[in-house]
Amino acid sequence: MKSIRKAVFPVAGMGTRFLPATKANPKEMLPIVDKPLIQYAAEEAVAAGIDTLIFINGRNKRSIEDHFDKAYELEAELEARNKSKLLKLAQEVIPSHVNCIYIRQSEALGLGHAVLCAEPAVGNEPFAVILADDLIINNGRNCMEQMVKVYNDYHGSVIGTQTVAREESDKYGMVAGPVISDGISLLEQIVEKPAAADAPSDQAVVGRYILTPGIFDKLKTTGRGAGGEIQLTDGIAALLQDEKVYAYSFEGKRYDCGSKLGYLQANVELGLAHPELKDDFCRYLKSLTLCD
Ligand code: G1P
Repeated sequence: MKSIRKAVFPVAGMGTRFLPATKANPKEMLPIVDKPLIQYAAEEAVAAGIDTLIFINGRNKRSIEDHFDKAYELEAELEARNKSKLLKLAQEVIPSHVNCIYIRQSEALGLGHAVLCAEPAVGNEPFAVILADDLIINNGRNCMEQMVKVYNDYHGSVIGTQTVAREESDKYGMVAGPVISDGISLLEQIVEKPAAADAPSDQAVVGRYILTPGIFDKLKTTGRGAGGEIQLTDGIAALLQDEKVYAYSFEGKRYDCGSKLGYLQANVELGLAHPELKDDFCRYLKSLTLCD
């Protein structure tokens, strides 16, 4: 069985919910406290044993490439000023054994299309997909580490899921299937953004996937679905006709950083956990007269 070595990061979205912040910058570069969302996602993948990061980018691609590249001028400047701690932060964005590949998605045709764009770099092996605007924090094993374990135990595609309120169904891929073990279900249905009344359960797909390469052939024949886009969800629905696919209810807290509220929540909670900031920030929050 092949191990999970590659992760795909679709980062070509327009990020319209965060305009004007995302006018010239991808939403994945928005920081949570002091680190951009895409770096949290890359760190999660690397901790899970992944050594090849494949970014599917669109317009505004430069800042992500620059972020994971060497910054000669900045490093020289910090070195000259003896700022060794800051220099380390700039140099250690990703470990040196990790390779980055950038692929341009020239048309915004949807998440399924973005994943299909990764085929030349992924080839015939299972791979991870991480949507960086779903920030998932866990004190023990991170979400992708947990999912790699499920993949290793069950030898099939794994979709990260969590329970949501029924009325939120139209924001997510919604799944259903029998529970086969603690937190793990065999996927029988998956549908993209159904109305609450049509949702097969209250289990929603979050932005973590491990997919077998069979997904590529399915995506090649997946027509436009919800929102007129080529949906990864529809490709997975086709895949599960041929292969076992598992839904995994991960351990950890997810922040929907694609929404302003989720983004603010992540900043507050990670600010309160930040080693250098937490005491001052906590004092500051306590000093506020919070809303009624
Ligand atoms: C995408 C997927 C959806 C999934 C969601 C998780 O939707 O299409 O199935 O539930 O990510 O964040 P998006 O949020 O990009 O509209």
